[in-house]
Amino acid sequence: MNSEQPSKDEQIECLRRQLLEAQKMTALGELVSTTTHEFNNVLMTIINYAKIGMRRKDEESRMKAFEKILAAGERAAKITNSVLGMARNRSHSFESTELEALIEESLVLMEREFMKYRISVERQFAKVPRVRANGNQIQQVLLNLFINARQAMPKGGRVLLRLDHDVEGDMVDLVVRDSGAGIPPEKLPRIFEPFFSTKSGPDATGKGGTGLGLACCREIIEAHRGRIRVASTLGKGTEFTIKLPVMPIAAPITQTVRAPSVGVPPVNGASATTPTND
Ligand SMILES: Nc1ncnc2c1ncn2[C@@H]1O[C@H](COP(=O)(O)OP(=O)(O)OP(=O)(O)O)[C@@H](O)[C@H]1O
Ligand SMILES: [Mg+2]
Repeated sequence: MNSEQPSKDEQIECLRRQLLEAQKMTALGELVSTTTHEFNNVLMTIINYAKIGMRRKDEESRMKAFEKILAAGERAAKITNSVLGMARNRSHSFESTELEALIEESLVLMEREFMKYRISVERQFAKVPRVRANGNQIQQVLLNLFINARQAMPKGGRVLLRLDHDVEGDMVDLVVRDSGAGIPPEKLPRIFEPFFSTKSGPDATGKGGTGLGLACCREIIEAHRGRIRVASTLGKGTEFTIKLPVMPIAAPITQTVRAPSVGVPPVNGASATTPTND
């Protein structure tokens, strides 16, 4: 018998870490499959307009074909950049990050899926300072929230994205609200637990059902010294608020950022928040 075997707690901790790592790979895998489809669509546009341009001899038709090819090519570049950015950036460092650009980049990856499920996106972006964040990880959080929102609106709906500056708390608030099914009050306190899921398994797009999405989001946001909380009304929708610390001006990246002492007041309906350490 080996007396140096890790304790049960150590084994659990090790498995937990491996699972969170797996969730990251799942997010990346899902992204690649979504974007491969999308990329294929863009290629079809390019091929079809190239054929039109070759067939038609008049200047006007050819010009239009070139414009379409250019727009599709630019979109293809945007898509590959988003995926490559996520796959390449494995650093765990926190940097000065512009949230609006990060949101837009994440939306590029969801555009096709939102369109397919007739989900519109509304933006209410106030001018906010840059935050101290790891862009790659925040993008993972956003994709998890977007996918959950989409899954809560099988018949379509609306996603509202808001950015606000919480001057007092020295934080930036990022709100993702959907007009979906909502979460029953008795389930709300459990949604951040690892493996808590009400989904029977992967949906038609191959996503969902492990119950690790929000657990992973919470882990990431807490590592940022931020907060994530939820408010939901059954039948009306769900709102996640993420608070991220503002990037200190001209301060070294390693500077510690004060944990906020106040939470966000609930919007409406029932709400739950992650445990705080203050
Ligand atoms: N926007 C939302 N609207 C309604 N319910 C939600 C929403 N987001 C999360 N939930 C509920 O919280 C549960 C946990 O979400 P979580 O993302 O952690 O896991 P999941 O989506 O079931 O699986 P996955 O690990 O694939 O993301 C979901 O199963 C669902 O019941
Ligand atoms: Mg999920």
